Amino acid sequence: MKKVIITGSNGLLGQSLLNLLLKSKHSYDVYGFSKGKNRSGREDFNYTTLDVTDKVLLIDTVSKIKPDFIINTAAMTNVDACEDSRETCYKLNVEVVESLKGISKKLKIHLIHISTDFIFDGKKGYYKESDVPNPLSYYGESKLKSEQVLLNSEIDFTILRTILVYGKVFDMSRSNIVLWVKNMLESGKEITIVDDQFRMPTYVEELALACKIVIDKKVKGIFNISSDKLLSVYEIAQQIAEVFNLNKNLIKPISTKALNQKATRPAKTGFDLTKTNKELGFKTNSFKMDLQKFKETLL
Ligand SMILES: NC(=O)c1ccc[n+]([C@@H]2O[C@H](COP(=O)([O-])OP(=O)(O)OC[C@H]3O[C@@H](n4cnc5c(N)ncnc54)[C@H](OP(=O)(O)O)[C@@H]3O)[C@@H](O)[C@H]2O)c1
Repeated sequence: MKKVIITGSNGLLGQSLLNLLLKSKHSYDVYGFSKGKNRSGREDFNYTTLDVTDKVLLIDTVSKIKPDFIINTAAMTNVDACEDSRETCYKLNVEVVESLKGISKKLKIHLIHISTDFIFDGKKGYYKESDVPNPLSYYGESKLKSEQVLLNSEIDFTILRTILVYGKVFDMSRSNIVLWVKNMLESGKEITIVDDQFRMPTYVEELALACKIVIDKKVKGIFNISSDKLLSVYEIAQQIAEVFNLNKNLIKPISTKALNQKATRPAKTGFDLTKTNKELGFKTNSFKMDLQKFKETLL
């Protein structure tokens, strides 16, 4: 029986992890932390309302549980808000990882941390785990700093980098690309989508599965997790329309420049998945294949 703490258990990945690990209650003893009340719709795990930026409370609570693994999904993930609220972003995205590193060292906990393609500048595409980061936004900078906290440590850690995560869980605090495009097209609304940014979107259930494999195999290091081919965000929206039988003509292309967002986004990210396939033994799918699987869960 492995004791696992999930920080941010109310979030998209947090709830997907609960749903996956709680399928095997004989193997995983699951603890969830989030800021507000439990919004997962589940009562069959140990939930604690906890602001993870409260260092003393975080360390005290983790020390009482003495887990084998912590999966740190709690983060400030709104890229534009991170630009405006840098201090809040730093506290949650970096300082929490420092606290978790300290307690993980003391109690010999394996820390699994989630990072992002936004640590790269997007000039190259298909990034390897070993490529040199160069973030363009404060969000990217904070996530890179969080990685560096772990890279310069002696603890057992795994960093899973991921891209444009989508899916659906019980009570969501925010939408994602697939749900947004689907909802807009279903209500017959025209949408503008950037055609000069390229991504490899990630189905949250695949990301949760990758976390479980890390626990089961106790794999350490950095790994890329995403679907397997670079697509423009415009193409991503078109594939969503195709899979959900919606009107593609409502999707209009727009340039990044015309969109004028607060935080600068990298143009072309995407991952080289060779290491993930070989060393993690994790099979990645096409976006369309994952979308079909997602669609079936909604029927
Ligand atoms: N989503 C993406 O496209 C994407 C892409 C690349 C990387 N990532 C990374 O993947 C990870 C998971 O992302 P996600 O999409 O699952 O995020 P999410 O849905 O925004 O969930 C984040 C969770 O953290 C919780 N949280 C926020 N502040 C907290 C605090 N002070 N104390 C305790 N809990 C707190 C939130 O609680 P409330 O809901 O109650 O506020 C929420 O449950 C993050 O590390 C993110 O950086 C995500």
